[in-house]
Amino acid sequence: MINSQTTVREVALQMPESTRLFEKLKIDYCCGGNQPLANACASAGIDIDNVMRVLGKMSQSNSTEASALDFQNASLTELIEHILNTHHVFTKSEMERLQSLADKVLNAHGGNHPELVHMDELFTRLCADLKPHMFKEEQVLFPYILAMTQAAELNQAGPFAPFGTVNNPVRMMMKEHDIAGQILRELRALTSDYKVPPDACISYRTLYEALENFEKDLHQHIHLENNVLFPKALELENALLQQS
Ligand SMILES: [Fe+2]
Ligand SMILES: [Fe+2]
Repeated sequence: MINSQTTVREVALQMPESTRLFEKLKIDYCCGGNQPLANACASAGIDIDNVMRVLGKMSQSNSTEASALDFQNASLTELIEHILNTHHVFTKSEMERLQSLADKVLNAHGGNHPELVHMDELFTRLCADLKPHMFKEEQVLFPYILAMTQAAELNQAGPFAPFGTVNNPVRMMMKEHDIAGQILRELRALTSDYKVPPDACISYRTLYEALENFEKDLHQHIHLENNVLFPKALELENALLQQS
């Protein structure tokens, strides 16, 4: 049961559709989601009662709809497949498309809109951070989690961890998520919530709309890793250690 003291993270886990509302209200549910809903609303200057009402309506209308994937009850393998096929694929293709679009918009409008220089720099930095980040997840962390899952299924000892414990790469990934979250906040502030100026061309509008979608997807992606996948992986590693 959700109440004003439930953490934002917990609400996002229990009601995945609430993340759409959090995006709209600019309430952080991925990296900074570990605070009660009441506190998050207070610091965002939003009336908690209104938020509770909207959440209540949402849960009523969704109780009849089957959710696409029940993340909390999904297996680690399903979660990793979902993260890779949905978020990693999207992030990679959008990074490539938006980097050239951002350069194009900067060349065309940088004279009248000098903030575009900083926007381009921030997005380039975000991509430069995300590429090796996803590579580490794909090559090191996720294969280790999948190997743990297999060991558990076969009742075998856990796989060798070259990094000591899974807690180490998890901590590193979470730190990198925080940095990405900070860059997203800077981008949002710089672009005044992705508001296009009246003289913006189609490319400019397309870019800002796509950047906002990119932000939304990355929030969801980080939420699934920080709040669902990583805690489950830590739990599984502990279970395997106790068993051996
Ligand atoms: Fe990821
Ligand atoms: Fe990640």
